[in-house]
Amino acid sequence: MDRLKITGGQALRGTVTIAGAKNAALPQIAAALLSPHPVALSNLPLVSDVENMLRVAELYGAAVTRNAHSATIDAGLVAAREVSYETVRKMRATVLFLGPLLARFGEARVSLPGGCAIGARPVDMHLKALEMLGAEIGIENGLIVARTPNSLRGTRVILSSPSVGATETAMMAATAARGETEILNAAREPEVADLAACLNAMGAKIEGAGTHRIIIEGNTGWRAAVHQVIPDRIEAGTYAVAAAITGGMLELVNARMENLAAMIQALEVMGVNVWPSDRGLVISRNAPLRTADLTTEPYPGFPTDLQAQFMALACCAEGTSLIRETIFENRFMHVPELTRLGADIALQGTTAVVRGGKPLKGAQVMATDLRASVCLVLAALAAKGETVINRVYHIDRGYEQLDRKLALCGAKIERLRA
Ligand code: UD1
Repeated sequence: MDRLKITGGQALRGTVTIAGAKNAALPQIAAALLSPHPVALSNLPLVSDVENMLRVAELYGAAVTRNAHSATIDAGLVAAREVSYETVRKMRATVLFLGPLLARFGEARVSLPGGCAIGARPVDMHLKALEMLGAEIGIENGLIVARTPNSLRGTRVILSSPSVGATETAMMAATAARGETEILNAAREPEVADLAACLNAMGAKIEGAGTHRIIIEGNTGWRAAVHQVIPDRIEAGTYAVAAAITGGMLELVNARMENLAAMIQALEVMGVNVWPSDRGLVISRNAPLRTADLTTEPYPGFPTDLQAQFMALACCAEGTSLIRETIFENRFMHVPELTRLGADIALQGTTAVVRGGKPLKGAQVMATDLRASVCLVLAALAAKGETVINRVYHIDRGYEQLDRKLALCGAKIERLRA
């Protein structure tokens, strides 16, 4: 397993090009299986989660043609077959194949998902949404089995909370249902709106994605489609913290200010400068960091996927910051590892009390999940001396060439190959 060796203390300066959004790409790969016509996706990030998702699409029978950051997915020959647990257990997002396969074939079998170890992460809302659309759901030998005796039928789907994945499952399934579907309490994340844009390019008729109420007209017919994935707001947020934590200045090419409002507000509270450039955003810091109290919320609130990175930043601000996690119950796995680097963090239920300003010092640490791992990279950039981060494959799941991008901006970072 690869490791990363980082020697901290360099202020990062330069330009980072933000890749396409992993969390937008994954549902779009699943959505391509709805249609018998090819779907050409561009601006795909070169990360292992996307590679795995494409591999699962192939296992279902899709023909995938790759070209650097693009892929054409031709699902003309896809069938509702079963895909082995070994392939899908790595990623929770494979549950997103359930809605499209069910909608197209009237039957789907998908393994109960694995993925990041951040809490229980059930899929009950996905299944409830499909039941509302007329599916019968059972669990057989660890597989979710969904069937529709007749075709799915449009209806009102009310989500008990605005789950991103359940919204995407309901939206994809509803595109092939008879009649109109209304999704209420839908997730408003930009990735949901981007999935709707992709589905609309494929021939669907969806309005309201990006708001709490999405309307889908079913069965509008499919056509070949071309779609460009939106830039990754979480990758942008991560490099923003890299600039802030090292007291440097980075231009984040492709970062979209409108999708990053909560993060920008948090940075400004902490004494970090943010301004737009022609190509994206510029982040810089030349004054001491200030504390902040942050609570993760569904979009447009502060994203849970940036909580760990901002905790690393809070460790470098003199004084106490409170960081509250409301989306996932077990998303503090970075805390013991940050403590190994010298941070002073106490957990009180869903709140982390960060007493910042203690000097961080390099150590051996363990990456545990995607965002927790990158938080350790950020802390290491600010720490005195050398940090070695084990199990870097977590980072490769969601960050394209993280070590190279950081090195180009002056970080002392080296990948130690296994
Ligand atoms: C997506 C993102 C993930 C991000 C999360 C929240 C992808 C591939 N992943 O994950 O990076 O952290 O949104 O912004 O897009 N829940 C249930 N039952 C369900 C579904 C969800 O109880 O059927 C719970 C989850 O356990 C969690 C909360 O709802 O506590 C939010 O989950 P959800 O919005 O569905 O996240 P994901 O789509 O899994």
